[in-house]
Amino acid sequence: MQSFTLQSVPLVKFGRGVYKNILEFITNASGNVLIITCNSFMKSGKADIIHKVAERIVHKVFFKITGGEPTVELIDSIVNEYRNLSIALVIAIGGGAVIDTGKAVSAMITVNDSVIHYLENVGDKNHPGTKIPFIALPTTSGTGSEVTKNAVIARTGIEGFKKSLRHDRFVPDVALIDPSLTDGLPPEITASCGMDAIAQLIESYISTKSTIFTDSIALPALIPALQGITQLCNSRFDDEELRDTLSYASYISGITLAHAGLGICHGIAGPMGGLFPIPHGVACANLLPSTISFTVESILKNRENNVTTLKKIGILGRALKENENETDENASRYFADFCEKLLENLPVRSLGKYGITSSDTVLIATASDNKNSPVKADTSMMSEMILRRI
Ligand SMILES: [Fe+2]
Repeated sequence: MQSFTLQSVPLVKFGRGVYKNILEFITNASGNVLIITCNSFMKSGKADIIHKVAERIVHKVFFKITGGEPTVELIDSIVNEYRNLSIALVIAIGGGAVIDTGKAVSAMITVNDSVIHYLENVGDKNHPGTKIPFIALPTTSGTGSEVTKNAVIARTGIEGFKKSLRHDRFVPDVALIDPSLTDGLPPEITASCGMDAIAQLIESYISTKSTIFTDSIALPALIPALQGITQLCNSRFDDEELRDTLSYASYISGITLAHAGLGICHGIAGPMGGLFPIPHGVACANLLPSTISFTVESILKNRENNVTTLKKIGILGRALKENENETDENASRYFADFCEKLLENLPVRSLGKYGITSSDTVLIATASDNKNSPVKADTSMMSEMILRRI
């Protein structure tokens, strides 16, 4: 059996209604509280209970509304605004971008410097790992950032990048994962965020770094998400069970990616998001089918060296086909087809809608990597994968 290390995870409360636990944390904070959130949460009416509690306590509760993916400039500006305001607790309520913003702010508020100096492969300093206590409440089912130790910070443009601010101590202290916060999320956002979580689960499940631990939690989260996302985005928008399923998938995907790593889909989606203003989930949704098809074709061509991966994808295919007698080969092909059809039936805009053209594919592919994929694609293969969704 492959050995593994179980990294720390936050105190997690999962279930409908658990977001109300935030009131206790706000009340008991030892100083002022900074809540980083988005317009949609403020408009949802769910912020009202926080306002009521804020009126009754001695310390202050600041709301910082943000949107879009966190950039170096955004993090520095929020940190400079609140560094001297005795913040004792940072709370992020929003999608993956908002949670990454909160995670980075909670870490950088303790350091009198720009975040750019501490980003992987870009910075020139090691972060000491200090931070203000941090609580994450996801309002989308996507990145799993509520349980990971890194925040992805972007700079877009020709010299753009997406790099992580990472430290073992940056794992949120508490994650309140309340699927009711995702109720009413538009189908387009549900689809792209959900495909990010699904891609994370698939890639970590077949990763060269996967272990019995990650496999055992990935599968029960992944199969129901694959079976339910199309209905949730097309006809059963209000189905609470399906919303719960995707929230759980997203949460588990954060744990599996942190322990087993990712694959080609994220290996391309990362640089793509640095070079073009495309939401991370949209990039993942567009790339997942072609990267899975490539993976299946590659392992079938070279079975001797991919016995474990073929078996694993076979398990996925048989579960989705609900046919236990299917061979690994047929089940794997079924799985690749399933992923292709999944994207066809989801409201996801193509890459071309975000300004990516056929002449950009080599640029993106050159900056991409295979991460922990069991099979490796070269630049021209990656270009082909991108081209299919222009
Ligand atoms: Fe992702």
